[in-house]
Amino acid sequence: MRIILRHCGVPKSTPHSSGLARLDLEFFTLPSLVLTFYKFIKRYGDFFACGLENPPIPPLFSKGGLLHALLLGATVYKKNEDIMNILGIICSPRSPGNCELTIKEISRQIPVPHELKLTRLPKLNIQPCQGCYRCLFKEQRCWIQDDLNSVLDDMSRADALIVAVPTYFLGPNASLKLLLDRGLSFYGRAASLWKKPAVGIGIAGIDGKEGYTLLGIQNFLKMLRADIRAVDMIHGALPGEALLIDKNTPVIRRLAKALMHPEPESTSPGCPLCGGDAFRFLEGGKIQCLLCSNSGTLTLENETPVFHIEPGDHDLFLNKEATLKHRDWLIGMKGRYLEKKSELKEIFARYAD
Ligand SMILES: Cc1cc2nc3c(=O)[nH]c(=O)nc-3n(C[C@H](O)[C@H](O)[C@H](O)COP(=O)(O)O)c2cc1C
Repeated sequence: MRIILRHCGVPKSTPHSSGLARLDLEFFTLPSLVLTFYKFIKRYGDFFACGLENPPIPPLFSKGGLLHALLLGATVYKKNEDIMNILGIICSPRSPGNCELTIKEISRQIPVPHELKLTRLPKLNIQPCQGCYRCLFKEQRCWIQDDLNSVLDDMSRADALIVAVPTYFLGPNASLKLLLDRGLSFYGRAASLWKKPAVGIGIAGIDGKEGYTLLGIQNFLKMLRADIRAVDMIHGALPGEALLIDKNTPVIRRLAKALMHPEPESTSPGCPLCGGDAFRFLEGGKIQCLLCSNSGTLTLENETPVFHIEPGDHDLFLNKEATLKHRDWLIGMKGRYLEKKSELKEIFARYAD
């Protein structure tokens, strides 16, 4: 038997996560059930509201009220019933801020029972990548003792991801890049991350001043090898303001829907290979997709831009073969280093001072 409780605060014992708590009761007799409830509510009661339905979320219940609500018929799921675990990745240090609230709102708009767990990247200890490539070998884990593996565990265990990122100086908040920079470790998790449904939302303070935030989110999700169901931008400067702006409402609703049901193929102009919509103009009338890095040309058909982009011979994420080929190329780096070691040593010596 599994009982879902929605909590409205972060218990001190779990500084990095919030969202829903799960109480699994596998072997229960009536006294053990009551005792477990008592212990659980004693510990967390102040933090929880009971998830009678989802949505809407009912107001916070008191300890007694929570018990009452449970007795009156809180959502009690049978064990093994499929309940989605959704991980909300907040890339903002502000709590509560637009990212956190937007993830919660997306969760509320998801029409199926699910558990939402939140993690706040800027509060985690994610160290910069040391560029040693060791995570590609042996245990395929990074040796740095920080929170990377716990966030990878959370991502791997989740059934779906919601990533919310604020614009900082025309780009995504650095916490997203810091995690992405450790992305060689994603290969070790490829089996559990591959095609994981995900939506991404960027939040800028000023409408239209998001710079490359969206590209950064798409890049992160592509490198994770997630199944990107939808990504979009909304705006709002003050904490919580994003939920007051009418224009944002349909975007939030769309993302919630897309996480459950993939949207039909996009008809808006973009890269035919990866769906990217940011391009660089190259010499000779060529253009390059900034997401998959492939190049081609642009024509206008009925005043609509049409991109003709050819796959290159070193793609990073377009399909599983490309991903594995790139991983093998990276692994081969060790051999190439050993081959060139003496040549490289000479270079080091020349610049030693
Ligand atoms: C250091 C900093 C830089 C920012 N740079 C931009 C920017 O370049 N463009 C923009 O539209 N908003 C910018 N903003 C505003 C935030 O994107 C906006 O307030 C957002 O809602 C923050 O999300 P949060 O509440 O989840 O932290 C910036 C905010 C901060 C704190």
